[in-house]
Amino acid sequence: MLHNKRVILGITGGIAAYKAVEILRLLTKAGADVHVIMTRSAQEFIAPLTFQTLSANPVHTELFNLIAEREIGHISLADKADLFVIAPATASSIGKIANGIADDMLTTTVMATRAPVLIAPAMNVNMFTNPIYRNNEKKLRRLGYLFVPPVKGSLACGWEGEGKLADPETIFEAAVSALTIKDLAGRTIMVTAGPTREEIDPVRYISNHSSGKMGYALARSAARRGARVILVSGPVNLPPPHGVELVGVTSAEEMRRVVMARVGECSAVIKAAAVADYRPVERSGSKVKKQARELTLQLTRNADILAELGALEQRPFLVGFAAETDNLESHATTKLREKNLDMIVANDVSQSDAGFNVETNRALLLFRDSPMVECPLMSKGELATVILDHILSAGLS
Ligand code: PMT
Repeated sequence: MLHNKRVILGITGGIAAYKAVEILRLLTKAGADVHVIMTRSAQEFIAPLTFQTLSANPVHTELFNLIAEREIGHISLADKADLFVIAPATASSIGKIANGIADDMLTTTVMATRAPVLIAPAMNVNMFTNPIYRNNEKKLRRLGYLFVPPVKGSLACGWEGEGKLADPETIFEAAVSALTIKDLAGRTIMVTAGPTREEIDPVRYISNHSSGKMGYALARSAARRGARVILVSGPVNLPPPHGVELVGVTSAEEMRRVVMARVGECSAVIKAAAVADYRPVERSGSKVKKQARELTLQLTRNADILAELGALEQRPFLVGFAAETDNLESHATTKLREKNLDMIVANDVSQSDAGFNVETNRALLLFRDSPMVECPLMSKGELATVILDHILSAGLS
């Protein structure tokens, strides 16, 4: 995700400095080349060696360093950066940056960079609500600096309230978003994900193996690219991606109600959910008792949500998925036509590395009026990016 991206991670002196280790780990895991700058007070909380080892780059601590200054260290770092993240950022460091005080390696490099700067403050709640801090933050926001607000919680100083550093995942997500071109800005995209559950009685249901990974990857990727995302999800064990509106549903009928109620807001609907085709004719109000040797369950067809969307007079760009075990192309082509879709993503769910409940997928992308595209095995995150690229180039308005 962050291959070929150089990120400067600035760490200032707060108790949350240790959380920068996790932020560094997430950034390097995503492929970024991370260079750490620590203020003198940050080094009171955690040793530079930790960051040097994990980033595989020297940690910058001094403005006047004979070796680094051979090439004017703070300027060359500032020039090479694609993104500058300061986490945790103290009230003092934010105050300095807001007022043009550049008296150490961190503040000097921030002042010299033309890269976007993302600031994750962490401080005592009274410092955070102090009008001097407020004005500094407001000023920086006006100048285009990005902020990941702190969260409420018990603070190291003993106070309760706002001031706790945001989660490393939230800061990482904001960093990825800052580095992502917003080519879906202004669009609302609805993604459905996960399985549906069709209840037999209060303790049993019919469902399938969908984990929600494919749909959640699509929602995450669309949100990073600037879309407003409505994620309609069946029951899954995944945290909702940052910045998406999650609407949880259980049954196919519930999913249908939400999708049909919200479709008017959308430029595109992507139906990655594995919707149950049938539900029990009757749901027993009490647990069905074990009695006869055989039990027959009578099922009835659920409405086909995608076909209903395709039949709308005014409809958004429609993307379906086809989960097939044979004749991938021909089955998917039939679904594309019969459900009146713009695009369908056909995945072969008989393979162990694709389809249900795995991290990877491979697919055929079929379109209403352009040639088929073959996507080889890749992560679901990568496939989500490819699908969104094709939705854009197929003329999403
Ligand atoms: O969730 P994961 O573990 O990551 O797995 C991903 C996935 C395999 C579930 C996903 O890639 C996928 O293929 N989703 C569609 C599964 C499916 O229901 O396929 P289908 O061929 O039965 O349905 C075709 C399309 O019609 C789908 O877009 C489906 O959402 C939609 N449909 C189906 C039935 C129904 N009653 N209403 C619908 O809208």
